[in-house]
Amino acid sequence: MNDTKQTSLETRLVQAGIGSDKRTGAISLPIHPSATYRHPAVGESTGYDYTRSNNPTREVLETLLADMEGGARGLAFASGMAALTTLFLHFSRGDHLILSEDLYGGTYRVLDQIFSRFDLATSYVDTSNLNAIGAAITPQTRAILVETPGNPLLGIADIRAIAGLCRKHQLLFIVDNTFLTPLLQRPLELGADIVIHSATKYLGGHNDLCAGVLVTRDEKLGEELYFLQNSTGPILPPQDCWLLVRSLKTLALRLERQCRNAQIIATWLQQQPQVETIYFPGLPEHPGHQLIQQQASGFGAMLSFRLDSPQRARQVLERIKLISFAESLGGVESLLTLPAVQTHGDIPEEERQRLGICEALLRLSVGCEDVDDLLADLQQALGN
Ligand SMILES: Cc1ncc(COP(=O)(O)O)c(C=O)c1O
Repeated sequence: MNDTKQTSLETRLVQAGIGSDKRTGAISLPIHPSATYRHPAVGESTGYDYTRSNNPTREVLETLLADMEGGARGLAFASGMAALTTLFLHFSRGDHLILSEDLYGGTYRVLDQIFSRFDLATSYVDTSNLNAIGAAITPQTRAILVETPGNPLLGIADIRAIAGLCRKHQLLFIVDNTFLTPLLQRPLELGADIVIHSATKYLGGHNDLCAGVLVTRDEKLGEELYFLQNSTGPILPPQDCWLLVRSLKTLALRLERQCRNAQIIATWLQQQPQVETIYFPGLPEHPGHQLIQQQASGFGAMLSFRLDSPQRARQVLERIKLISFAESLGGVESLLTLPAVQTHGDIPEEERQRLGICEALLRLSVGCEDVDDLLADLQQALGN
């Protein structure tokens, strides 16, 4: 792998894996499926003993992930939820976490229905409001986890300010960076301690891989999370590590196109009479429009919009042809989601209503297709 930091991150991504096989000079990263490794002698190791603990293909990926986020340690998991679950195992009975209320429903579900049984307490607050975060801190609080932009309402949290609050109260600061990727936003450099990703999304980018990532700013915390990863075993298999490295090579290209398409679609949606509200931080009207520019180099390619009725939302989902009605996001293919029923179905109805995640709200993950084709599909789906 080209590990000279003199080159840009885009270049390092394209070059990832080159040179990792000294014997053959393979350009494509070799896949090492071996579950176990022969020891040269008693008490000696090649550095690889057992694949749950360490694997050469995963090692290249994990080094790349740490490099991408500017962290000390990267860890690759079998899914974003596996990464989050491992992260939550870092906490103990009686600890309290503060999380964004505009959060992926699966993160809420694992805490609400599983970790609550082990007395891990949670508060969900509007993390775009610093006072609301401050008011939720108790003597038991150990960490703050934000998704920014939020999911599905794209609220923006002030990463630098929350990092300051965390330092003051000695809390861990965790950022779910799935929506923007380290090419657009690097939370560790803004003061976060841990970044988490569903690599199923932009990092994988083709809707053909399920993976998760944790990256820590410092080595000690990385070692503690590695201990949990190795002890509980939710590792990403070598074949999928290879696929993720392969996918990351084109992340910059994909993202550039997706962001451009999203900006055009958001602007177009503003002019459609059936659309009541658009949630996209790239629009000047978005409340986080200034803030996101201070902490990220792009607005991403996720947008949500509320239609004039739940019937209209169903009509759009039934009529779209090119865009697929499916969960997930971040891939080259555009996907449209009904968050109230799909990604956020486990959030109690009352809470969803309070947040505005109603059945007239659709979330669009903008892909790499020709934007005119996407606009034509949306137009025919929206029409009376
Ligand atoms: C922001 C965010 N974080 C975490 C996850 C969980 O990741 P996975 O589906 O890869 O387990 C998701 C999944 O949609 C997500 O959108």
